[in-house]
Amino acid sequence: MASTITTTIALIVATLLALTAPGARTQPAAPGPTAAPLNLTAVLEKGGQYSTLIRLLRTTQVEQQINSQLNNSYNGLTVFAPTDNAFNSLKAGTLNSLSQQEQVALVLYHVLPRFYSLSSFQTTSNPIQTQASSNNGVYTLNITSTTSQVNISTGVVNTTITNTLRSDFPLAVYSIEEVLLPYDLFGAKPPGKAPAPAPAKEKSGKSDRTPAAPKADGPSAEAESSPSAAVRLKGRGVVWSFVAGAGVLMGIVGSLL
Ligand SMILES: *[C@@H]1O[C@H](CO)[C@@H](O)[C@H](O)[C@H]1NC(C)=O
Ligand SMILES: *[C@@H]1O[C@H](CO)[C@@H](O)[C@H](O)[C@H]1NC(C)=O
Ligand SMILES: *[C@@H]1O[C@H](CO)[C@@H](O)[C@H](O)[C@H]1NC(C)=O
Ligand SMILES: *[C@@H]1O[C@H](CO)[C@@H](O)[C@H](O)[C@H]1NC(C)=O
Ligand SMILES: *[C@@H]1O[C@H](CO)[C@@H](O)[C@H](O)[C@H]1NC(C)=O
Repeated sequence: MASTITTTIALIVATLLALTAPGARTQPAAPGPTAAPLNLTAVLEKGGQYSTLIRLLRTTQVEQQINSQLNNSYNGLTVFAPTDNAFNSLKAGTLNSLSQQEQVALVLYHVLPRFYSLSSFQTTSNPIQTQASSNNGVYTLNITSTTSQVNISTGVVNTTITNTLRSDFPLAVYSIEEVLLPYDLFGAKPPGKAPAPAPAKEKSGKSDRTPAAPKADGPSAEAESSPSAAVRLKGRGVVWSFVAGAGVLMGIVGSLL
C-alpha cells in the first residue's frame, strides 16, 4: 500500500512539474536575449599567435576600454594585431623601456577609431588618427593601399597587413608582422625628411608628448547585471511552479489517506 502511494506521488509530481513549468523544461537555463558581447581577446586567442598583444591589452587595461567601446561605438574599431614574432623581433628591452603610460600609448596606437574594411583603406587620406592621437596630430600613421596590398607606415616602421582575423562591423582585426612603433615614441632617427622634429632625447628617443589617456568605462560593470537578473527571474518562476504543484499534490495525498 505504502509503495503504491509512493509511486503514485512520484507520478503526480512528475506530471505536475511537466504541466506547471513547461518553460523551465523546454528551455536551457540561460539562453540570454542577445549574442555574447564582441570580445577582442577572444578573436585574438582564436588566432593563436597573439599572446604578447593579449598580455599588453590586459596590463594596460586597454582591453576593457575596447570591449566597452565596441558595444557603444557607431563607428566601430579597427585593430592592427602584431604577432608574437613581431614582438619577439623588437630590439631587446624595447617594451620594458617604456613607462606604463607609454605602453598604453603603444597599444592604443594599434587601434583606429572606426571600422575599416580592407578595401576602404584605398580611399582613406593620410595621416590617419589612432586611438592614441589627441587633437594636436600626434600618434598618427599613414596607410597606402592597392587592391592586393595594404601598407602601413609610422615614420619609423613600414609594414603590411598579412592576414584578416575578423572584418565584420563593428570590429576589424588585421594581423601584421611588425609592431607599429609610433614616431612620437621612437622617432629619434627619423627616416629621410621627417615632418615633425621630435625633441630628440638620448638614444631611447622618447618624447614627452602624451597621448589621450584611456577613459574609465562605466557600462562594462553594468553589463553583467542584466543576464544574471534574467536567470534570477527565470529561477523564481520555476520555484513558484513547484510551490503551486506541491500545494495541489498535498490536496491529492490528503484525499487518498
Ligand atoms: C573575452 O574573452 C576572453 C578570452 O576568451 C575571456 O577571458 C574574457 O573573460 C572575455 N571577456 C568578456 C567581457 O566576455
Ligand atoms: C607597399 O610596400 C611595398 C614594399 O614594402 C611596395 O613594393 C609597394 O609598392 C607598396 N604598396 C603600396 C600600395 O604602397
Ligand atoms: C604621412 O602622410 C602625410 C600626408 O600625405 C605626409 O605629409 C607625411 O610625410 C607622411 N608621413 C609618413 C611617416 O609617411
Ligand atoms: C617606408 O616607406 C617609405 C615609402 O613608402 C620610405 O620612404 C621610407 O624610407 C620607408 N621607411 C622605412 C623605415 O623603411
Ligand atoms: C552594451 O550595451 C548595452 C545596451 O546599450 C548595455 O546594456 C550593456 O551594459 C553594454 N555592455 C558593455 C560591455 O558595455
